Amino acid sequence: MQLTEFHPKAIIEPFRIRSVEPISFSTMATRKQALEIAGYNPFLLHACDVLIDLLTDSGTGAMSSRQWAGMIASDESYAGSSSFYRFESAVKDITGFKHVIPTHQGRAAEHILFSNIATKGDIIPNNTHFDTTRAHVENQGAEAKDLVSSEGLDLEAILPFKGDMDLGALLALVEREGAGHIPAIMLTVTNNSGGGQPVSMANIRGVSEIARAHGIPFYLDACRFAENAWFIKTREKEYADVAIIDIAREMFGYADGCTMSAKKDGMANIGGFLALNDAELASRCRSMEILTEGFPTYGGMAGYDMEAIACGLYEALDEDYLHYRIRSIEYLGEKLITAGIPIVQPTGGHALYINARAMLPHIPPLQYPAWSLQNGLYLLGGIRGVEIGTVMFGLQPDGSEKPAAQDLVRLAFPRRVYTQSHVDYIAEIVINLYHQRNLLTGYRIIEQTPVLRHFTAKLEPLKNT
Ligand code: F0G
Repeated sequence: MQLTEFHPKAIIEPFRIRSVEPISFSTMATRKQALEIAGYNPFLLHACDVLIDLLTDSGTGAMSSRQWAGMIASDESYAGSSSFYRFESAVKDITGFKHVIPTHQGRAAEHILFSNIATKGDIIPNNTHFDTTRAHVENQGAEAKDLVSSEGLDLEAILPFKGDMDLGALLALVEREGAGHIPAIMLTVTNNSGGGQPVSMANIRGVSEIARAHGIPFYLDACRFAENAWFIKTREKEYADVAIIDIAREMFGYADGCTMSAKKDGMANIGGFLALNDAELASRCRSMEILTEGFPTYGGMAGYDMEAIACGLYEALDEDYLHYRIRSIEYLGEKLITAGIPIVQPTGGHALYINARAMLPHIPPLQYPAWSLQNGLYLLGGIRGVEIGTVMFGLQPDGSEKPAAQDLVRLAFPRRVYTQSHVDYIAEIVINLYHQRNLLTGYRIIEQTPVLRHFTAKLEPLKNT
């Protein structure tokens, strides 16, 4: 008897687990105590008191046996290490850029790039600058301008490429300010600060055309380039049959360079790079790299970090992996939407974002609804997310406060770390918290620093909201 081939619907984790790390279970009482000691700031918790850590997808992934093998066999020579050449060759193969400058993480690449290209009075447009990118642009006295399309600002519009740049606004800016004041145009793929939404190839091409027509260099913030390539393959018709690596190559092909945090789609725990075509700029960047990062064949990384990235960049492009990863987040999203929970839609690449302002209308923005929600998730289920809202963005330079544009809680997924049952658990906790949402109260800040206060602030819950 000949069996008929069967294609199960279940999308399984495309790996088996050979090394495990226990997670620590706790009770609500012990979590309450831990949170109190941490000044009600999840950043100040000890990670061992967290059951499921969705604080970030940065540097928190699991490495493969091949990556570990590479790490053991690495070359730790100060200059000219073979691990660097393997790393450089992987970056060149995927991005096509001529010069590869290794850095200890993404923000170091941003620091080197912007110190060499931007000065006071300049403007750097981006779909949405990530915080560190914005900080490095502003550190040069330049303006970091966000030009994401209007659809990208609508939290619930179901559209395929909400990370796209508004090309009309970009062109108007370039024509108004002149290329002389715009040392670079950037595009963040996927758009982390805009809900992890992807950018279409058509938009990347459009930005590139405007940049080239005006002689302005175009850089990708490429941290999540592989996830973006997956969305292009699955959402942009003409790419359905194109291999992910070729989509990635085409994306990079429209740009003149990129900054990269290898802690994301480099599948590594640390590392990054700046890659570019301009030889003269590369030479200036290397001089600064020696000053701030290290010799140009290691730039702040150990040989074993470069080995992990050389291998990880290809593993991030594996279709089975990307399918599982993007599906895990979509799967959680479906469960939450069915339960009536307001989330940013459609779910993006690396994280799910809960709209806390919509979920907790009884907590006004200046009592930090997303902070309350993230702490609720920790208390109820030991889950650590991150507030992206008024605690993060509300403090003004003059010391006053104003509500951020949105109050979201980001649940970021470390790569290859959690399984479907973890996701089922997360869904149960979020849904149960939703049913008890009226019991959540606002917060008050009792201690803070003047900049980036969310990392270290101490808060206390209000008795009644
Ligand atoms: N650009 C984007 C889009 C990022 O998401 C990050 C980091 C960076 C640059 C900086 O890279 O951390 O290696 O220096 N994002 C992390 C996050 C921290 O949690 O989203 P880095």
